Amino acid sequence: MRYLREGYALKLDLLGDRQRTHYCGELRESHQGQKVFLAGWVARRRDLGSLIFLDLRDHTGVTQIVCNLEASPEAHAKAEQVRPEYVAGIEGEVVPRNPATVNAQLPTGKIEVRAHTLLLLNESKTPPFPVEDEGKTQEETRLRYRYVDLRRRRMQNNLRLRHRAGMAVREHMSQHGFVEVETPFLTRSTPEGARDYLVPSRVHHGHFYALPQSPQLFKQILMIGGFDRYFQIVRCFRDEDLRADRQPEFTQIDIEMAFPQRSLLFEIIEGLMEKLFGLVGADVLRPFPILPYEKAMELYGSDKPHTGFGLEWKRVSLPEMSKGKIGVLEPLKALCVPGWASASRSQIDRLQETAQAAGVDWFSVVKVTDADVQSPLAKSLGSEAVRLLAQAAGARANDLVVFVGIKPGPEPPVAARQLDEASGEIRLELARKLDLIKPAGWNFLWVVDFPMFEFDSKEKRFSAMHHPFTSPREEDLGILGSDPGHVKARAYDLVLNGSEIGGGSIRTHRRDIQQQVFEVLGMTPETARERFGFFLDALDYGTPPHGGIALGYDRIIALMAGESNIREVIAFPKTASAVDVMCNAPSTVEKEQLQELGIDLLPES
Ligand code: AMO
Repeated sequence: MRYLREGYALKLDLLGDRQRTHYCGELRESHQGQKVFLAGWVARRRDLGSLIFLDLRDHTGVTQIVCNLEASPEAHAKAEQVRPEYVAGIEGEVVPRNPATVNAQLPTGKIEVRAHTLLLLNESKTPPFPVEDEGKTQEETRLRYRYVDLRRRRMQNNLRLRHRAGMAVREHMSQHGFVEVETPFLTRSTPEGARDYLVPSRVHHGHFYALPQSPQLFKQILMIGGFDRYFQIVRCFRDEDLRADRQPEFTQIDIEMAFPQRSLLFEIIEGLMEKLFGLVGADVLRPFPILPYEKAMELYGSDKPHTGFGLEWKRVSLPEMSKGKIGVLEPLKALCVPGWASASRSQIDRLQETAQAAGVDWFSVVKVTDADVQSPLAKSLGSEAVRLLAQAAGARANDLVVFVGIKPGPEPPVAARQLDEASGEIRLELARKLDLIKPAGWNFLWVVDFPMFEFDSKEKRFSAMHHPFTSPREEDLGILGSDPGHVKARAYDLVLNGSEIGGGSIRTHRRDIQQQVFEVLGMTPETARERFGFFLDALDYGTPPHGGIALGYDRIIALMAGESNIREVIAFPKTASAVDVMCNAPSTVEKEQLQELGIDLLPES
């Protein structure tokens, strides 16, 4: 094979029957004198005239190669032609480095390989970014040339960590009697709140498969089928708006078990977390705290709170003597910021801007000093009422107490939700300002007792907060039909450092209750039959009580790897606009393909 490059002929070598003897990160002083054959990519070349040094890299590390004009003129001549990312094989001898050139940073830094033969196995175009210099490259370029990016240490480490995590999951689940079963990708839609990716059927004109948003119904059917304990590391597909922690195709550790008490499931999952995070040296404290949803919303304004720092909100009411004086819905929310009584006017103004941007329309503060309280509220409420308010908020000396509220207008549950969500944003913003979010620390939390339904005031109907197959609490079955807004679900989320890393529930295993849930969701028996007939039929054949969870595998690996974006732990992710920029997907297809599927495209609107 001959390639023309910069005016001279580059002759590529054939590998023949040579087999690599060592990896590039493997050689040490103890290998001195050994004849070795290494292969990899040329990371760097330094040309000192009669000596040319090459850094040869593979996924394990780098070895310095020396090509000496006198000792091996042929290897030296080839080394002159080598450029970064060329693929080379080196036959040579391991020798100690001259003490002046020992590199203490490098595990192979005490030795080098004196090349006898250098094989040029392949050339490379100049890479779009240097492999060794991580960080500065634009993400789109990294994804376009993912094969170059994957050579970088960060991606190698992340994906190898992901592999080890997968092994740990399989080991842990098997030890606990769970069996991995594959479920279909070409299936019917199972709504989990996002849109489906549809796959047209060629054979059944006008019919579509849906890619699963999760294997929810299949895993439940496996319980009906007597599998007792199932798990799967499985790809799920959701057509939803993307964020740093969301991909259109992502991976779940999907789990289901028959006859579970929630506490048993929690124990198994906590054990799994201990094993997984143990892979990165984390000390995982068990058992994980359990917090009811209502409390999470009150304290943190979030159902996936970061509990690694304080800053807890409290719902407070106005003292009797000041009711109605400030025109805000009660209860208000209050948060004490320790040591901030001395906050400047502009700091408080900025906080107010944050609060307003988050959606509150009433904001005030109280400064608590040793002797007194000061607040602009004193004018309208009087200083005694301000003191009582600060006391109700649990304020201590030197605190700045922040109060937020919503003015009358929205219905009370909507206003409460708006206030909670805003308070959550304000808390995170404050934590960032006060630099309270520390990267070290593993704050696991179970959030439980979610409402079963959410009322959609636009659509004027209830929707399932988790999914329709979640069981209502047994004690709430009596009010399922009459007061669905107050029914709590047997659902739980697993949260780590403010990220939702899993969600699941004990399921409804009785057909009559499942039917009632569908009714609350506004589904007629006919619609329910049309959409879930196969599942309702299955429920009729001896369904055991069962429950499970799905863990967000990508999110877990990202947290383990210390990455803030799940794209860093996925080999071939999509961009934020759901595009694979390397293979250019999605793409148009041939007219004939569409015709075969009976699809006619409307003009773009
Ligand atoms: P849920 O929808 O809560 O539950 O999903 C479980 C977990 O999967 C992760 N996750 C995602 N990760 C990356 N990209 C996405 N687009 C994405 N969507 C979800 C989250 C989430 O906690 N069938 C139920 C589980 C059950 O009830 O057992 C389900 O899928 O970490």
